[in-house]
This record gives sequence, C-alpha cells and structure tokens, in this order.
Amino acid sequence: MDLLRKLLFLPPGASQMARDIDLLHGFVIGVSALGAFGVALATVRFVVKYRHRSGPGYTEHVGAPRGFELGIGGFLVALFILWWVLGYRQYGEIQAKADGALEIYVTGKQWMWKFAYPDGRSTAGYLVVPRNEPVVLQLTSRDVIHSFFVPAFRIKRDALPSRYTTISFEATRSGTYRAMCAEYCGTSHSRMWADVVVLSPPDYEQWLEGEPPAPVARAQAGAVVRGGRTGDEDGATLAERGREIAAQYGCLSCHTTDGQQHVGPTWAGLYGSHETLDDGQTVEVDADYITESMMRPNAKRVRGFDALMPTYQGELEGDEVAAVVAFIRSLRDAPHESAVELPELAPAAGTQPDGGGEGGAP
Ligand code: CUA
Repeated sequence: MDLLRKLLFLPPGASQMARDIDLLHGFVIGVSALGAFGVALATVRFVVKYRHRSGPGYTEHVGAPRGFELGIGGFLVALFILWWVLGYRQYGEIQAKADGALEIYVTGKQWMWKFAYPDGRSTAGYLVVPRNEPVVLQLTSRDVIHSFFVPAFRIKRDALPSRYTTISFEATRSGTYRAMCAEYCGTSHSRMWADVVVLSPPDYEQWLEGEPPAPVARAQAGAVVRGGRTGDEDGATLAERGREIAAQYGCLSCHTTDGQQHVGPTWAGLYGSHETLDDGQTVEVDADYITESMMRPNAKRVRGFDALMPTYQGELEGDEVAAVVAFIRSLRDAPHESAVELPELAPAAGTQPDGGGEGGAP
C-alpha cells in the first residue's frame, strides 16, 4: 500500500478518510493492473499459437464456450458495481455533516483562498483546524470555478460562484498540509494554494485565545495572498473587502465616504459617533447598530433621512456584514461633516484584482 502511495506521489494520509480512500484506490488500480497483465499475457500466447504457418491461408474459427463469456462479463459488471458501492459510500461520508462539526466558510477567488471561522475571525492563505475534530467546509467562489483539494486528506470539492458546496473531514495528525486549487482558473492557478495547519488541542486553544502557535505563525508568514492583499493585517483586509462589498451592493450610491450627507448618512466619521434617531433617542453607532441597520433599516433611523434603504437580510453573508462594518469603522477618523478627499485606504483597494502582477509572464 505504501509502495503504491509513493508510486502515485501521494503524501501520507492525514485524515480519517484517507485510509479507506487509499484502499479503494489501490484496489481499483491493482485489479485493473492485474486485468491488463492478463490481457497482455493472452495476447502474447495467441500471437505465438496462431502465428502464420505454411499450409492453408486461414485459421479455423476459434470460440469460447458461452458460459465462459457470460462469466467474464458478469464478473466485470459485478466488479464495477462493487467499486461504485464502495466509492459512493465514501462520497457520502465526505459529504455528511457530523453533528457539532466546526463549520468554516471557504471562499476561493483569483488567486487565493480565504477562510471565515464561526467566531468571526478570518484568515487568508491558510486554514487552521483542530486535530481529531470533525470539520465541515462550506465552499464558494467570488469569481470563477475553483476546486479545493487537500491531497493529504484525500478530499477535493469544487468551489462555485453563487453556490455553496460542502465537504467534511477530520484531520488525524498535527502538521501543515498543502491545499491546492484543482480547477484551472487563470494566470496564477498553479500558485493558488493554502496551508492547512492542523493543531493539537492545546495549540488550538492557544490559537483561539489569540496567540498564534509556531506552525500558524509560519503559515501566516508564508501565506499566498494574491490580488494585493495580505493575510496578516486582518483589520485592513476586512475593511478593504468591505469597501468592495459596499460598492458591489450599491451602498456607496447613497452613503458617501467623504463626509457629505447624501441619501443616507455619510460613513465618514460615523462609527463611534452618537446619532439622534427619528424618535428623538440617541444611539452610539457601533457594530451592533450598523448590523441592525443593514438588516432592519427602519428600526432605528437617523433623524433627517427618509426610509429609502432596503434590507440586506439574506443578501449579505455573515462575513460580508463583518467586512462592511470593518470598512465603516476604518472611516471613523475621517472628517464627519465637511467635504474632503477620500480617506486613505490601502493602495490596492480598487475592485480590479491585480491581474497576477507578480505572476505575469515576462
Ligand atoms: Cu483557482 Cu485554479
């Protein structure tokens, strides 16, 4: 088994599924190789036995007994069905969501992977999971079709735009493994990979508490993040993404970022300010208030603005809401009332992915 694994250039298995998948893989390849060998042997034998000889210029008709033919056919069909049953069962297993599994949202985009965790944090270019705990990945794509492939876990699943696909696994060995994109998606497809860091329970606790253990720090440093963003400044990354989302969903056609009031309140300096509502109450503008206003725009409307904003309930994913909030927060120190230039964001905040600038062919 190990020999076959090495012949196929597969890394040692590191998930609970890997062994079964390898066994089936080996079984199918082994049986096929045996069959091919048998066919080759028979060919050689017939070539020798029925070679051209002097005498009459033909060979008499050669036939196999009917039962023998049926037997071979039936055996092959049964073999295929067996493979299918085993394979389908494994497919069901990597599709199944275990109760209490850790759910992580995976977003593929040209050309990087992003991961959003249930507690609200996110990473780009590397994924952190605990050992011996079921994990469910919810995959989607922001542009074209990608495919999330972790050879060591023997799992692969397409990430499709505007759809969620699921794959689950349970890592059985601590370490850092490579995840790759397995669907051609453009210039830097071959470099669209991420590290999957599997942590022992104590290390994982440490990561949850906000101190990255050594393997995470290494993955962070080596994270592949194309398109001008970096993974280690989560605040900035999230805010930049928030700006893109705000543009995409049309928020910016009513909310300015330069301090001028428009259809809705300007976002410049909004975060942390105290606003007077329609009913005379005041609120402090914080993440909660902003989130509520996206979902129920008229629940607490700022005085002086009309009820024109649509709800974004069901439109925005959880991490997108977080990103927009982060963007608004990043504008907190911008002048509130007067017209000024756009506050400075990171230079690559444009909506164009940077075309694989560093990956461009010479
Ligand atoms: Cu993404 Cu190939």
